[in-house]
Amino acid sequence: MTRPARLALKAFVWFVCLAPLALLAYRAWTDDLGANPISFITNTLGDWTLRILLASLAMTPLRIVFGLSWPIALRRLLGLFAFAYVCLHFAVWSVLDFFFDWPRMWADIVKRPYITMGMLALLSLLPLAATSTAGMIRRLGARNWTRLHRLAYVAAVCAVVHYLWLAKVGVKEPYWYAVALVVLLGVRGWEWSRRMTRRRRARAETTTPRVGSRAENPLS
Ligand code: HEM
Repeated sequence: MTRPARLALKAFVWFVCLAPLALLAYRAWTDDLGANPISFITNTLGDWTLRILLASLAMTPLRIVFGLSWPIALRRLLGLFAFAYVCLHFAVWSVLDFFFDWPRMWADIVKRPYITMGMLALLSLLPLAATSTAGMIRRLGARNWTRLHRLAYVAAVCAVVHYLWLAKVGVKEPYWYAVALVVLLGVRGWEWSRRMTRRRRARAETTTPRVGSRAENPLS
């Protein structure tokens, strides 16, 4: 992919990820946040956190299934946007719902399982955001960095469970997100098992003596 094309793609991602925030700001400005503005803001930010997080996790499966390499260039940007959204989501909860009342916030995290799950998702994303710079990738080494970044899947699982547990009976959206996550995890699992099979076969080929080789015929 050419450099201008990559820049255009990144500009598009910036636009798509910032548009919901701009719309939210506009709705706040025009007093159009519905009967429960805090809930509306929290939910909108939560929805977009989950959408962007799943989009960032879809980049590698797109390469695996369709052989596309360009989505990989967007993975980090999408991951950072997901983190920015969850920080805002968390900020609304801690400022507007609790006004930094730490003991009550802690009690809420412990008492309500869906809040516990949300917190686990946020905490799983923290080290990923902290190690997203090129310097940190170099310092950790590509192998450790890749291993650490599997936490993105832990975050996504916790986030989907967070949504499933908080949704009212009859609300279908969280199930769609759960299906999307299962598909993404399925593609990664399939790729992993293919890689393992290939590795096992390669190992077997190097250890199995070839016909007519010295190992097979010690007298030769
Ligand atoms: C990656 C992490 C997270 C994701 C993806 C996420 C996602 C979501 C989603 C999708 C919703 C429901 C939106 C809707 O009904 O349309 C939601 C609601 C909510 N989230 Fe999160 N969340 C995350 C972390 C957190 C954290 C850390 C907290 C607080 C500690 C939190 C507190 C809440 C609350 C209180 C609601 C319900 C708001 C209401 O209905 O009044 N979330 N979140």
